[in-house]
Amino acid sequence: MEEYKKLLFGKSYINGEWFSANTETFEVLNPADNSVVARVSNENAQAVSQAIDAAHAAFKPWSKKSGKERSVIMQRWYALIMENKESIAVIMTLESGKPLQESRGEVDYGAAFIQWFAEEAKRLYGDIIPGYTADRRIMVIKQPIGVVGAITPWNFPLAMITRKVSPALAAGCTVVIRPSEETPLTALAITHLAEKAGFPKGVFNMVVGTDASSMGKILCESSLVSKISFTGSTRVGQILSTQSVSTLKKLSLELGGNAPFIIFEDADIDAAVKGAIAGKFRFSGQTCVCVNRILVHEKIYEIFTDKFVKAVSELKPGNGMQEGINIAPLINKKAMDRVEGFVEDAISKGGKILIGGKRINENFFAPTVIGDATAAMNFAKEEIFGPVAPIFKFSTDEEAINLANDTIYGLASYLYTNDLKRSWKISEALEYGIVGINEGLISSEVAPFGGIKHSGSGREGSKYGIEDYVEIKYICIGNIE
Ligand code: SIN
Repeated sequence: MEEYKKLLFGKSYINGEWFSANTETFEVLNPADNSVVARVSNENAQAVSQAIDAAHAAFKPWSKKSGKERSVIMQRWYALIMENKESIAVIMTLESGKPLQESRGEVDYGAAFIQWFAEEAKRLYGDIIPGYTADRRIMVIKQPIGVVGAITPWNFPLAMITRKVSPALAAGCTVVIRPSEETPLTALAITHLAEKAGFPKGVFNMVVGTDASSMGKILCESSLVSKISFTGSTRVGQILSTQSVSTLKKLSLELGGNAPFIIFEDADIDAAVKGAIAGKFRFSGQTCVCVNRILVHEKIYEIFTDKFVKAVSELKPGNGMQEGINIAPLINKKAMDRVEGFVEDAISKGGKILIGGKRINENFFAPTVIGDATAAMNFAKEEIFGPVAPIFKFSTDEEAINLANDTIYGLASYLYTNDLKRSWKISEALEYGIVGINEGLISSEVAPFGGIKHSGSGREGSKYGIEDYVEIKYICIGNIE
């Protein structure tokens, strides 16, 4: 049980060294009970700047290695993470509150990106294009973009790092990572394993600190950084985009969502209940692809709602280190106030609390279902990021599509139907980057993850994920008589 302590680190990692320029430290708290898990050195923008210099110096030699050489180091990193799966999962649960079972799942999920892109490193194919005159030959090659700044959130302390840096490293880029100050310990644990795996100095840099805005700004404004990959809120994504304008930086943005979960009258209701529980309550609703609005055909509204409320009543909130817990605490007080605000707003506009509806204590919000939800309620437009499931009613396919698309967001969407034609038509009409048909969990390293509209741009994972980290070069050879 104490094994995880061997993977606790309290410093940043820059240019192949554990780095601490600052004697000031900050506390990492367990969101389940506010206890202190560890203290970490609080670095600042100056440290980020040093990391950028190191990554810049390391870029040429790393990019010159063959894909196979990079792949070997990445495979070692993958293996080390899997060997230490239990310790990493414990650290993740302690600092994020994620139930241990979900943390184990995240280690598998996050490590899979390393394995996938280690394989892709060897397959960064170009093209030969028929020349446009008889004496010309045309080739297209892909080259790494340069230094990548990765800014990652607390809700997936491991997977959001590996989903960004794995394609970057595989392509030949070097990285400067700024993880969330809420969950730096998982990030530092996998940094230690990256060091053991043998990345050359400067290739992999991790800078931890609480001053998110100045650390992000320096990454965005540095002319030595070629690309920023960010997962987080739409508001911060907009700030980073503005800051990146002066250097015309490339951006991958994985931002907020407002996922509709549409259940048509012909759907398998038990499957829909199961999918809605998984899609809504994963990490207590604190993911960008979590179900935000359940839209149910009026003919099955009552039967679905009864079964769903019963399933919600079986969920168990508590400290994620205990057996059988599947509802995590909210990450902090701000999140609690926000979730409570959505519920109060819905009640004031006629919403019915069918179960839950209030905080259990200062850390946990009860899994909640709100019936008779309407478009006037705040969660119809905004992301809840908490264990609250509003149920809306619709009567036609057209109404369902209009309701589903009536949001600035466009990340994940879900639909339940047994009608093949309907599943095609609705999937095509949904303005989202991801559609789950009869499935509430859609994340995988083999599939392209990303959104449209205010949910961002770029795709992570799959064969598409590496494209965001390469430049395409067209080479024309002339005078071949
Ligand atoms: C996120 O919440 O940003 C990521 C969710 C996922 O990868 O499933």
